Amino acid sequence: MQRNYVAKKVEEMAPSGIRAFFDLVLGMKDVISLGVGEPDFVTPWHIRESGIASLEAGYTSYTSNKGLMKLRLLISQMLKKRFRLTYCPNEEILITVGVSEGVDLAMRAIINPGDQVLVPMPSYVSYGPMVELAGGTAVLLRTDANCGFKITPQEIERVCTKKTKAIMLNYPANPTGVSYSRDELEKINRVCRKHQLLVISDEIYADLTYEGRHCAFPALPGARDMTLYLNGFSKAYAMTGWRIGYACGPQEIIGAMTKIHQYTILCAPIIGQWAACEALQRGDGDVETMRAEYRRRRDFVINRLAEIGLPCVKPDGAFYVFPSIEKTGMASLDFAAKLLQEKKIALVPGSAFGKQFDGHVRMSYAAKFEQLKEAMQRLGDFIKERG
Ligand SMILES: Cc1ncc(COP(=O)(O)O)c(C=O)c1O
Repeated sequence: MQRNYVAKKVEEMAPSGIRAFFDLVLGMKDVISLGVGEPDFVTPWHIRESGIASLEAGYTSYTSNKGLMKLRLLISQMLKKRFRLTYCPNEEILITVGVSEGVDLAMRAIINPGDQVLVPMPSYVSYGPMVELAGGTAVLLRTDANCGFKITPQEIERVCTKKTKAIMLNYPANPTGVSYSRDELEKINRVCRKHQLLVISDEIYADLTYEGRHCAFPALPGARDMTLYLNGFSKAYAMTGWRIGYACGPQEIIGAMTKIHQYTILCAPIIGQWAACEALQRGDGDVETMRAEYRRRRDFVINRLAEIGLPCVKPDGAFYVFPSIEKTGMASLDFAAKLLQEKKIALVPGSAFGKQFDGHVRMSYAAKFEQLKEAMQRLGDFIKERG
């Protein structure tokens, strides 16, 4: 090509480290993958069936830009019941194409050139690039295993400037699985209110909490009107492919996000929206069953890691664990590549979440129990051989 058509900021953006590594896995046989962040369960049958029924009923059109009224109503009822949160289904809830779209819309709706958004690290790999694509600056807040991979109010206080507009939170977290207690969240809330930061709270793993009770950020005292709450159906209901999420927040922000959504996406897929209605109406038991199984796997994996001698911060939820591999002296990409070659286990190098996490790897336990057993055996052998 004679001319470079690609925008500078896209050209400069690093490709996802997770994807880059998994291109290596493609084409290899008999690999046990603990890499991808998606449930190994298929969407429960009655939810699939409601998707099929919606097709049979001929629901193949667009929906309202904001999403089906029925789904928005069900979401508002569920949030009221669980967290005593009140959101108007007409003005304060938007159905999105997964939480991914919710994060993207949020950034584009609030960022003026040069605005800063705080992103606690390690984080889900999309946050930083989405801030940058929207013309903002992602200010990365460092955490480590010593502080349980949690940010502190002091750190937020330290980095806040006049340009800091928002903070991205995610708990239980990808890639560490750690969550925050109500007390910890209240302290974070206080400092965010002091600096008038919008809190964008991605609580996609809320239903997969194994320790303590999940506390929704907007349910904290005074937090509702400075919080954009993001959640969806991908993880808790094993519905990644249906692409349904939702955003709840103050009318001005949801209104601004709806404008962008209107021009870019129009609406989330109708079949997925009907299936999500079924999930909210009759899916509690399925979530409970899957949560119990993930919890059993988490307990197994952290016990095995302790036996193998790879320390990790105990995950409170989600389906990830982020052990340290420092004692092997290997860089995380080297560790992951050798483990793949020698033992056919795929996991994500910590460097995919930033250079400073090169002493870690992310393992997902969204895999069948038998596979996990085998994987931990092989990982144990791998470490022993380096011994
Ligand atoms: C923290 C976090 N947020 C959002 C997403 C994307 O979810 P969705 O399928 O709803 O777009 C993921 C997927 O891995 C995630 O881990």
